[in-house]
Amino acid sequence: AFQVELASNGKHCEVPAHQTVLQALRAHGIAILSSCEQGVCGTCLTRVLQGECDHRDLYLTDEEKAKHDQFTPCCSRAKGPVLVLDL
Ligand code: FES
Repeated sequence: AFQVELASNGKHCEVPAHQTVLQALRAHGIAILSSCEQGVCGTCLTRVLQGECDHRDLYLTDEEKAKHDQFTPCCSRAKGPVLVLDL
């Protein structure tokens, strides 16, 4: 499990292994638009302000992934303990 932090209010959401970031955020009442939920369409793309992403999508290029400034919460995860999201 890891945490995502919402930059706007400092709230933390725990993301357990069996949940996606999208599901964890929704469980906390944070609505994010999504479509494919398989890392293909990019609809759910969210800005990352801090932390290292574990990118699992097919949408971002390798170059974009290396910047760790955006990720697809429908399938991608965190490598470290916390990801700070621009939400
Ligand atoms: Fe399609 Fe996340 S919903 S990439």
